[in-house]
Amino acid sequence: MRILGIETSCDDTGAAIFDTKQGLVVHRLASQVALHSEYGGVVPELAARDHIRTLLPLVDSLINDPANSNQKIDGVAWTMGPGLSGALLVGASVGRSLSMAWSVPGVGVHHMEGHLLAPMLEPEPPECPFVALLVSGGHTLLVDVAAIGDYHILGQSMDDAAGEAFDKTAKLLGLEYPGGPAIAKLALEGDPMRFSFPRPMVNRPGLDFSFSGLKTFTRIAAIENGLNPDSAVIGDGLDQQTVCDIARAFEEAVVDTLCIKCLRALKQTGHKCIVIAGGVGANQRLREKLGEQAAALGAATYYPRPEFCTDNGAMIAYAGSVRIKHAPKGNGFEVKPRWSIEDI
Ligand code: KG4
Ligand code: ZN
Repeated sequence: MRILGIETSCDDTGAAIFDTKQGLVVHRLASQVALHSEYGGVVPELAARDHIRTLLPLVDSLINDPANSNQKIDGVAWTMGPGLSGALLVGASVGRSLSMAWSVPGVGVHHMEGHLLAPMLEPEPPECPFVALLVSGGHTLLVDVAAIGDYHILGQSMDDAAGEAFDKTAKLLGLEYPGGPAIAKLALEGDPMRFSFPRPMVNRPGLDFSFSGLKTFTRIAAIENGLNPDSAVIGDGLDQQTVCDIARAFEEAVVDTLCIKCLRALKQTGHKCIVIAGGVGANQRLREKLGEQAAALGAATYYPRPEFCTDNGAMIAYAGSVRIKHAPKGNGFEVKPRWSIEDI
């Protein structure tokens, strides 16, 4: 079965074709980073308009790609939620319309299930049960995955998502959007001994997270070390080495916090496997530290390749291939901007 997958939940237009026998056939991504960077974050209306411009030509290019060799598409999957409502509506309208025009099944899938299943696209996929840490710009979730489709949330962020904290901290320091890769790059030049930032909520029992206090702590440290908070120029007053040192301290604090909770989740569930997915899962420091610490517990760590950590069409095509067998026949264009992974 050949599934076309469409992702438009935020600021990336992604599309891919997944074949249940041959695996991933072809995938392509059109990023809107340049469009939003001058605003320092995603502007929902601009995102939706750009998806409208980009999506159909992108799908057309996949269908006509030599790798697909014009083979018949047997089903269409699109991201139904969670995400920005206008952006989601573009993918849902195009996906549903194509499924009706081609008379094939169509299914709206959950964006975070797409992230969770992204490691299944790798040559050595994880086996259930496992713990999944889903860390993106909109979510920070620890999920007990008993089986595909059987998800129980173990913990989540009470305020900012980890990616959101990276993005806001980067903005404070005058770095470009998206903030995660920008902070990770400068952190490599940072002195790990200069600042020590708190690891939020690690001394409390449980598996929830909170990153907004860390963001405030970072802001105060930046002001104490030269940042002029009243300047119209973002990051004004900070010298380059201080920016690198703060980036390092911030990244270490987020990575340590995530690792501590992941190890706790492994111990609590008894699972011997952890999956890291979502945009922050591309972070090298997180991969290194968690890989080492999980191994010490006898647990294996699985990640998607970095390009499938951030939003992409391949993970939606794969999730669609799992979901489409059970999809109710319908012709609706429904989207769910807020949608818990436990309610799929
Ligand atoms: O999964 P994703 O592409 O979109 C959402 O579903 O939100 O995640 C985007 C988030 C952004 O907040 C971005 O700053 C973060 O992932 N990110 C990173 C890295 N690459 C992307 N955070 C830390 N380190 C990275 N290397
Ligand atoms: Zn995402």
